[in-house]
Amino acid sequence: SSEAVVNLSGSLIPSSSNIPPSILEKTREKLHLRPNHPLHILKKMIEKSIEDMHPREFSFYDDLPQLVSTTDCFDDLLVEWNHPSRRYTDTYYWDESHVLRTHMTAHDTTLLRAGKKAFVLTGDVYRRDSIDKSHYPVFHQVDAVRIFDRNTSQNEHKLIADLKSTLESLAKNIFQREVQIRWVDGEFPFTYPSFEMEVFWNGNWLELLGCGLLKRGVLDAGQVDKNSKGWAFGLGLERLAMVLFEIPDIRLFWSKDERFLQQFRDGKITKFKPYSKYPSCYKDITFWLSEKFHENAFYELVRTVAGDTVEEVALLDEFHRNNKTSHCYRIVYRSMDRSLTNDEVDEIQDKIREEVARRLEVILR
Ligand code: PHE
Repeated sequence: SSEAVVNLSGSLIPSSSNIPPSILEKTREKLHLRPNHPLHILKKMIEKSIEDMHPREFSFYDDLPQLVSTTDCFDDLLVEWNHPSRRYTDTYYWDESHVLRTHMTAHDTTLLRAGKKAFVLTGDVYRRDSIDKSHYPVFHQVDAVRIFDRNTSQNEHKLIADLKSTLESLAKNIFQREVQIRWVDGEFPFTYPSFEMEVFWNGNWLELLGCGLLKRGVLDAGQVDKNSKGWAFGLGLERLAMVLFEIPDIRLFWSKDERFLQQFRDGKITKFKPYSKYPSCYKDITFWLSEKFHENAFYELVRTVAGDTVEEVALLDEFHRNNKTSHCYRIVYRSMDRSLTNDEVDEIQDKIREEVARRLEVILR
């Protein structure tokens, strides 16, 4: 069971932590709680849709603490000790036993132990990741759980049918029309069977969410009655918002520019009208790798130094000589709100070179 959680605000980051200050700052933003923000609009629509389908059954949470124990995030959910999501290179660790939640599912067993039988959770989740138009180390998810007690239908097929019909109605409500849906088998440590729902939209199959029946081990961790079963699903908000609002770059969700924020109104899905797109420029950086080097650490350093002026970091070239490996990366700079000057970009690039050499101990070429 989970122990007392460290308080994020006001505490010093432990020296063993891999959370940079720029990421810690994001925990204060809570984009999903801001009126008229696309992520808030979508969250509200999903909540309303579930409430309309199952009146007064679900509890809704949208401000649970982002720092969770590894027990909550992984162990209770049967995530194997060697699963990639536990790696220091993939997850933000506060200390050995606390992480910035990598998914909203991290709260499930705590709420189950508190006796909750049906709930919807929205919040920001954190994963160390590459940088491009659709990847950002912070994004938002909506998760839900529905437990059926011993008196209700326990048949697995009926539970799966209930899960699928709930999610099909949700998709219709969100896309505001009959959309073509397909179910593919999924795999998650905490559910069996597991499914992914895909929606046909603008000529492409879009992976919308993961779901399944909670495994007995998870229900046990949640102290759920032996005779009860339940389903769960989890859905990422950014990818969905990007197609619905036609938002071309994931960084725009974090924009403070009124030309972005003014465009959206609660309750409505409207198409984003691009305001002038500022020119991009790129700089390459080449170095010999070190023991300390890891790709995600590099991406994160770039992001820490350059903030949201970085649009993309791409590995251009790799070669080997005398047991050494050299990487060349192209960093594409573009601001969402203004033109960057050449001097300014040079300065950022110099700072990145300096920091990468110092912290990751690579040899610049
Ligand atoms: N937590 C999973 C993810 O982040 C999604 C999920 C939630 C899948 C609940 C099944 C059940 O990808």
